[in-house]
Amino acid sequence: MPTLVIVGAQWGDEGKGRITDLLSRNAHLVVRFQGGANAGHTVVVEGEKYILHLIPSGIIHADTTCVIGNGMVLDLPTLFKEIEDLKERGLPVEKNLVISDRAHVTMPYHRLLDMPKEPRSGQRKLVTTQRGIRPTYVDKVARLGVRVGDMLCPDLMAEKIRTNLHEKGGSIESPQEADEWVDVLICEFAEWADRIRRYVANTTVLINRAIDEGKNVLFEGAQGTGLDVDFGTYPFVTSSNTTAGGACTGTGVGPSKIDRVVAVAKAYATRVGDERPFPTLMPDGLEQQVREKGNEYGATTGRPRRCGWYDAVLARHAVMVNGLHSLVVTKLDVLDDLPTVKVCRAYRCGDQTLEDFPADVELLDKCEPVYEEFPGWQTTTSNARSFEDLPEAARRYMNRLAELSGAPVSIISVGQSRNDAIMLDPSLETYAF
Ligand code: GDP
Ligand code: IMO
Ligand code: MG
Repeated sequence: MPTLVIVGAQWGDEGKGRITDLLSRNAHLVVRFQGGANAGHTVVVEGEKYILHLIPSGIIHADTTCVIGNGMVLDLPTLFKEIEDLKERGLPVEKNLVISDRAHVTMPYHRLLDMPKEPRSGQRKLVTTQRGIRPTYVDKVARLGVRVGDMLCPDLMAEKIRTNLHEKGGSIESPQEADEWVDVLICEFAEWADRIRRYVANTTVLINRAIDEGKNVLFEGAQGTGLDVDFGTYPFVTSSNTTAGGACTGTGVGPSKIDRVVAVAKAYATRVGDERPFPTLMPDGLEQQVREKGNEYGATTGRPRRCGWYDAVLARHAVMVNGLHSLVVTKLDVLDDLPTVKVCRAYRCGDQTLEDFPADVELLDKCEPVYEEFPGWQTTTSNARSFEDLPEAARRYMNRLAELSGAPVSIISVGQSRNDAIMLDPSLETYAF
């Protein structure tokens, strides 16, 4: 039962899609287990670029079944567009995609409820991707949610639309009269139900059977540990458990069936948006240089990502809360030109030194990073395919990064294309755990 969980170690956009694609060649099943269209996972194969929001990044492999697990929230127009785009590019999506009947649906009113609001005085603004993620998970936990399986029962679906719109009426600027909108949504969902029916299944049974038959199953996380609703920089997080435990609750696979857990981290750090804590933020000029070289603009929103140094305090937190076997480090090539590189090994706050990632974002905001500084290598690393191929300064940087993070590094990625990687632990490719 070789099962592998891939999550993000930082604040998202670490290259999970790229690494999932790399490790999907021998996977029978690739499963997404949380999040929704807030994710933007980029895969580049032979110069072709794919940006996936809902469909697992294993979809580029023609013989891999891709599962949208019960822990996800699905925006249907985004899903249908993604299916059509991939079909147009010749991928057999109809054969390979399966959607959980327990996954929750992001309803049109969820998107409206996720529009930016002015914060109450004294509060900081919560920025979101405006994909309806928070309202969908709010309804799931409040037990008011609509599940994919509900869509296949027209009477139940009509009742849920009516009740929900009635309840939320006051808080949404409805695009039309309430009764009219109910009728429009009932019609729209009847059509969408016909389109989605062929993909819907009890995916918990499907995945568990595959595991029992000894098939290779890869679980692809979205977002990252710093955005986890419990372990991230709450409240500046997303609304799901992005950490490894989410792979169990988001699919119905028990923890005893997980064999390997790896987290993807960039060789530096990024975070989308302006207002949330980010202790290792780089000074302006340097930040801009790294942003341009790393093309750090959101795959979903196009927003510039803020850039900082690698934060080993956050990495150690990720190693702990995900129970990591190893780290996958991406984008080492982005640091190629820099004369010096730094890793944050602890935080200083007043006269205190913090080794552990704090729960309190106000405290985190006041933390100053304690850095270790290394000479840069100022040589191209993109062609390296073994550790020995890397310049000595890059090897030293990677060794210290692993030491400070408290986990070995199993893959180093040095470019965005499928094969631009150094495989330090080949068992990840063959699922020979
Ligand atoms: P995800 O959300 O974790 O899947 O990551 P994104 O796709 O949002 O962002 C990662 C970006 O970095 C994408 O544009 C990838 O093509 C790119 N990328 C991934 N690994 C590497 C790498 O090793 N080097 C470079 N230069 N780019 C990379
Ligand atoms: P992938 O899977 C980076 C960020 C948003 C926002 C916060 C909450 O591509 O790594 P939400 O819409 O989830 O309620 O937004 O989380 N965010 C991400 N940042 N990568 C992502 O996904 C993200 N998904 C959400 O920018 O700050
Ligand atoms: Mg992304």
